[in-house]
Amino acid sequence: MADVAVQSEGRSSGIVINDDWPGYSLDLFNYPAHYSGDLDCVIIPHGVIMDRTERLARNIMDDLGDHDIVVLCVLKGGYQFCADLVDRIKALSRNSNHTIPMRVHFIRLKSYLNDQSTEDLHIVGAEDLSFLAGKAIVGTGKTMQTLLKHVEAFRPKMIKVAGLLVKRVPHNSPCLPDYVGFEIPNRFVVGYALDYNEYFRDLNHICAISESGKTKYKI
Ligand code: HPA
Ligand code: MG
Repeated sequence: MADVAVQSEGRSSGIVINDDWPGYSLDLFNYPAHYSGDLDCVIIPHGVIMDRTERLARNIMDDLGDHDIVVLCVLKGGYQFCADLVDRIKALSRNSNHTIPMRVHFIRLKSYLNDQSTEDLHIVGAEDLSFLAGKAIVGTGKTMQTLLKHVEAFRPKMIKVAGLLVKRVPHNSPCLPDYVGFEIPNRFVVGYALDYNEYFRDLNHICAISESGKTKYKI
């Protein structure tokens, strides 16, 4: 077990969940009855997500405290993380003498069908992002590279990316978020706004989907 970190973490891979982690039995937690049989296990319980998010909020405050922040939330999968992260930043800033002006914008990316990433990543419903000029951004969500290129074109003063999850994929891109919640095995997970064909966003924990769940909601 690592010592308690008292300084800012620097760039960290977050809480590492190993490949041999079997997850928690679903019987130990509440989850919506309509998903019974559709899940294998709980990978990250909701409370742990919230505790980790609170720490990320503090790291972000420590690093960006003197800037106005424009938060760019990547929909749909990032909405819950973004909402909770913004909430924690607000709470921390209320409790210190250090309030940070923060605005929140949304962008929508779509690339997954079933549990496979499709080639055609597209930005759906992009707003005019020219407001980003001279601001510090904390983007949340996934599929960073395309988005970063898009955002950099608006020449913000600073860009920081927060991602709740980073998967250990064999050829991971060198492009990692500045703030990472958890590093997880390369398997498809759902819950906490992450979906499988639009299902499971209403599940609070991050869970592994079962084979029968995949079949049930396959398109
Ligand atoms: N779950 C849901 N959506 C995703 C995932 C995942 O594991 N990876 C990329 N998009
Ligand atoms: Mg999705």
